[in-house]
Amino acid sequence: MNEKTLIKGKIHYVGVNDRQKRLFEGMWPLPNGVSYNSYLIDDDIVALVDTVDACYFEAYLRKIRAILGDRPVQYLIINHMEPDHSGSIRLIKQQYPDMVIVGNKQTFGMIEGFYGVTGDRYEVKEGDFLSLGRHCLRFYLTPMVHWPETMMTFDETEGVLFAGDAFGCFGTLDGGFLDTRIDLDKYWEEMTRYYSNIVGKYGNPVQKALAKLNGLPIQAVCSTHGPVWTENIPRVAGIYDRLSRYEAEEGVVIAYGSMYGHTEQMAEAIASELSAQGIRHIVMHNVSKSHPSYILKDIFKYRGLIIGSPTYCNHIYPEVEALLDKILLREVKNRYLGLFGSFCWAGAAVKRMGELTEKGKFEPVGDPVEMKQAMTPLAQERCEQLAQAMADRLKKDRH
Ligand code: FEO
Repeated sequence: MNEKTLIKGKIHYVGVNDRQKRLFEGMWPLPNGVSYNSYLIDDDIVALVDTVDACYFEAYLRKIRAILGDRPVQYLIINHMEPDHSGSIRLIKQQYPDMVIVGNKQTFGMIEGFYGVTGDRYEVKEGDFLSLGRHCLRFYLTPMVHWPETMMTFDETEGVLFAGDAFGCFGTLDGGFLDTRIDLDKYWEEMTRYYSNIVGKYGNPVQKALAKLNGLPIQAVCSTHGPVWTENIPRVAGIYDRLSRYEAEEGVVIAYGSMYGHTEQMAEAIASELSAQGIRHIVMHNVSKSHPSYILKDIFKYRGLIIGSPTYCNHIYPEVEALLDKILLREVKNRYLGLFGSFCWAGAAVKRMGELTEKGKFEPVGDPVEMKQAMTPLAQERCEQLAQAMADRLKKDRH
């Protein structure tokens, strides 16, 4: 059994897989499911790091008991209070009533508020230390990665970082959990989608956390979602670093709404010209079909963004406006922005998109294009000019 759960030293993986939930946080599709990771340090003093979604408590408890038998858990370390990780606090406390909960000042109010759990607690501050026997733990406060109470726990004995949501990704763990023993292909794109959707707003706090971790002798990263990272730590840290700086590759996302295909024809004209101009990475999303989580993922990946909308009730097409809302919420920076749209009898969408995106930190590129009713040679030409302006701007960054 130990071989199946052991990570390093006396640290075990006791997380669970969720293959049932369709939408994470009620919003984000989970085609490959998601894991809720928890870790057990079976030292002289036994500590559990985070818990799992309450729906999986029975399986979770079985995993813990398979390692501990009748021995109790003495500490429960709570790095993050979002209920996908804190959901089993009340249930595990019922099993181990003498267990002391470890958290920071922000943690305990949330535990009481969500679960009505009070009692023995150990409140830690930045840099505080806890010895379990062989394993020595140090605590680092990393607020807003992803909630205000978020902290990380570093096992100085084994060089293992319990990172909370940081370095996490969507996707269940199908058999193994160590990056060296599983096929990682499905996780890389899902890491970008996870970051951009869940943590994407908090680029600055993520940068602060990365700076704090810089220099620690980290041998393994135990996130709350996805594989345990060992050999791939530089790649994973690089992805989180780039995404939280809002850095992006050369490429263009064209996201558009279209009721009868006219705005879509503009999108096609723009894409075709971008390609003719030598832009290789072009991703087109019809907002009525692509889930916004995938559009956001691509917007975090690529530097160019061109948004198209028909005028609808004298406004932006609602699905496009909802996407713009999500982009602005995440304070996406360092993107070149082009706008286009169509209308039947009175244009409004392009103007309103311009007003809305002024609130963001985008660099406008080219002249916005607005087309009446259907494609004309002039509209085609103006779409191509917009594409050329975008391609020129992207190519400037090559040097
Ligand atoms: Fe996976 Fe912010 O919780």
